[in-house]
Amino acid sequence: MSITYRELRQKWLEFFKSKGHTEIPSASVFPENDATVLFTTAGMHPLVPYLMGQKHPAGNRLTDIQKCIRTNDIDSVGDTSHLTFFEMMGNWSLGDYFKKEMVAWSFEFLTQHLGFKPEQLAVTCFKGDENAPRDDETAGFWKEQGLKDNQIFFYGADDNWWGLADGGPCGPDTEMFIDNGQPACGADCGPACHCGKYTEIWNDVFMQYEKKADGSLVKLAQQNVDTGMGLERTLAFMNGVSDAFSTELFAGMRQKLEELSGKKYAEALVPFRKVLDHVRTSVFILGDDKHLAPSNTDQGYVLRRLIRVAIRSLKQLGITDFVLPALAECVLDQYAEYYPELQRNRDFIMTELAKEEQLFNRTITAGLKEMDKVMSRVQNGLIDGQTAFHLYDTYGFPLEFTQQIATENNLQVDVDGFNKCFQAHQELSRKGAEQKFKGGLADHSEKSAHYHTATHIMHAMLRQMFGETVAQKGSNITPERMRFDFSFNRKMTPEEVKELENRVNAVIEQKIPVECAERTLAEAQAEGAIGLFAHKYDAEKVKVYTIGTVSKEVCGGPHAQNTGDLGHFRILKEESSSAGVRRIKAVLE
Ligand code: ALA
Repeated sequence: MSITYRELRQKWLEFFKSKGHTEIPSASVFPENDATVLFTTAGMHPLVPYLMGQKHPAGNRLTDIQKCIRTNDIDSVGDTSHLTFFEMMGNWSLGDYFKKEMVAWSFEFLTQHLGFKPEQLAVTCFKGDENAPRDDETAGFWKEQGLKDNQIFFYGADDNWWGLADGGPCGPDTEMFIDNGQPACGADCGPACHCGKYTEIWNDVFMQYEKKADGSLVKLAQQNVDTGMGLERTLAFMNGVSDAFSTELFAGMRQKLEELSGKKYAEALVPFRKVLDHVRTSVFILGDDKHLAPSNTDQGYVLRRLIRVAIRSLKQLGITDFVLPALAECVLDQYAEYYPELQRNRDFIMTELAKEEQLFNRTITAGLKEMDKVMSRVQNGLIDGQTAFHLYDTYGFPLEFTQQIATENNLQVDVDGFNKCFQAHQELSRKGAEQKFKGGLADHSEKSAHYHTATHIMHAMLRQMFGETVAQKGSNITPERMRFDFSFNRKMTPEEVKELENRVNAVIEQKIPVECAERTLAEAQAEGAIGLFAHKYDAEKVKVYTIGTVSKEVCGGPHAQNTGDLGHFRILKEESSSAGVRRIKAVLE
């Protein structure tokens, strides 16, 4: 069955509307109130408070198509499957229907609306572990739809458990795959196998647990459903093409690139795909109402990397003119109808792309020459940190950019050495760095950075005073004040408020340096870092901020360099936020 982008979107939304769901707009690509991840990674991400029990104004059956960005695999873009931006079609039950209805609707949608035959389906269910029982219930509902035992597979938590890795809603899931009918590749072949027989198409998560900060699971007051179907993959699969880049979504930009380069897509797959993917993602980041520009920190840095890798790929295609705005036009032509913010922010998108393209074009050619020289004289297969830093500082090569070129030439980069040079340089030109900082994330002023640090200290002091069941439930920072919500089941006494204030000020007065390190989630947890581990993509690096022995917390930052920079900490108010959650408002003076 062939299907257009428009039809697929409509089919999804209409189907769930016919089942009583309200359509909600896609949320921003930047998560609100979540400093632990840079981008919205799944449809459920903006809905966490509602999965936890808060009432959603649009009701308890929702559907949408959410803009998602997953950046842990940027370097893998170029193969048939990796994308840094994708749209996730989703539907939610917030304490309403559960497994029986969702399995029946999944079957109905796949067979009657997308046209798959029941015998093409394979599904997986949770096989049970010490945390939760085997999900025979869901398997039973699949059988009610007519699936045979040999179409139902049971796997452990690695495959069939989804949710926030720490402190959030989660549960067993059932994943749906299309079986291409080829013989199994071996006795163990099943949907978890990567032989190509099975293509994952949809994931239904039954969110009935909350993972607490200490790792324990408790039953949620309500049973939720969270599902996600990747739009690009489904569109490619249903139209019988091998990758998302061959669908109509990229047709305009692909053609433009072919014109500009005089090459065909099939002749230069990797650079084509990198340009197509990275330009589209950059347009969606720049097209957000937040107006975030390329910079050297956080999301701005990811954006810079995407644009710079795209520029290098353009060079590999032999394109030397400035073409990013023209390519971005193709993205707008494809998507502006569905995402009006792209149209609204058209000027910002075009100006920033042109600026970054001009900026990097001044140095990339010389930088690539320098890189060639470096690679020709390198010893032991390792590019030293000083050289990598020189490429960064003089030619604007992000570390990962240098690493990518190195990898293509079977070389490695001394990352620790690079970081040492980077830190030494930062120390030397702190003032300059602060300036750059201000030009970076628009809403992350130096004052906000101080409030981030104050929040970590206060969080740690609360845990010192009241024990480790105190956990962050939310945080909101402006350059004027901080607001912090945490789990605690009674009002604090005035003496306790004073005591908390004194403890925070004592840490400030000790002038402790704030250190930042990059870790995988697993490493961060192993080191005892606290924080909202708001996704389960273990390979993704997170930042861990350490304040002496006082605090170690996962956070997107930015932070003060030293607690001594914070000034005097004063609590304005301690009040109730919701059941079992208190709220503190405080200022730095
Ligand atoms: N939240 C689920 C996922 O991302 C549906 O797979």
